[in-house]
Amino acid sequence: MPGAMLYGLDSQEDSIRKTLQFMWDSGKKDTRIKLGIQPTILIYGPPGTGKTSLVENLAKEFNSEYNAEGFHFVKSNLNSLLSHDLGRSSKNLDKFFDDIFKKARQQKRVLVHLDDAESALTSRMGGSESKGVFRFVTTALGKLDDLIGADLMYSPVIVLSTNMIKVLDPAVDRRFTHRFRFDPTLSEEHIREMSTHYLADSIDEYSDFVEALISRYDPKQVTPHQICRILEVVLVQGLAPDDAILQLDKENPHYGMIIEK
Ligand SMILES: Nc1ncnc2c1ncn2[C@@H]1O[C@H](COP(=O)(O)OP(=O)(O)OP(=O)(O)O)[C@@H](O)[C@H]1O
Ligand SMILES: [Mg+2]
Repeated sequence: MPGAMLYGLDSQEDSIRKTLQFMWDSGKKDTRIKLGIQPTILIYGPPGTGKTSLVENLAKEFNSEYNAEGFHFVKSNLNSLLSHDLGRSSKNLDKFFDDIFKKARQQKRVLVHLDDAESALTSRMGGSESKGVFRFVTTALGKLDDLIGADLMYSPVIVLSTNMIKVLDPAVDRRFTHRFRFDPTLSEEHIREMSTHYLADSIDEYSDFVEALISRYDPKQVTPHQICRILEVVLVQGLAPDDAILQLDKENPHYGMIIEK
């Protein structure tokens, strides 16, 4: 199954793909070790801009290139490993990282996606965090260092994504060198393409609606996710073009993005 169609992220996609290829290129291994290049990627940007979807798309792509024998994808938001019981959190982390090591020792290229990282890797400086979170982050950082420093045929690559980069622990932040900002600027053309993608064969009937969409929302202010949700409502509720425009005309507090251009 092809991955989600993403707009306005071509350069990020290309650069992240190249970064992954570099990390897994055996011809570059010595250079990587000599220069201490960390196999870590940080993806940040507002909610609904395609961070999770892009990593999933790349995982699918690498999975069909190397199949299950040569590639392994693991995703966690880490929060699920965090428990009120300190011992339990530590065991969960051990198991999570042991599994990654195991797959990497089987000479698989392992892509680890720590999604919504802010949920667990918040700053230890804030004061409000419990001792448990402090210990958790410290242990997680130690595990990350072991993984990054291990001598493996293919180093696992850790991708961290967040929409709240400011709350990330500075020590987490420092370990993630290759950074990509996701803030796709949609063009009018992107909105037309997205509309065609959702409304498919009926797109001709909806031309007024699509133009209304374009004139009512500043593509630079609206996220792709918001446009997708509007199109989804039209599709799912089977709104006729006129009703779809009426719907757009209503002040929609959920999106709150209607602006005068
Ligand atoms: N650049 C994009 N082009 C097209 N659709 C997009 C794009 N970004 C997001 N979407 C749509 O929004 C949905 C949510 O995207 P996604 O979960 O990847 O966002 P995210 O950046 O991970 O958000 P969050 O920070 O809330 O986790 C996707 O399923 C997709 O429908
Ligand atoms: Mg996400």
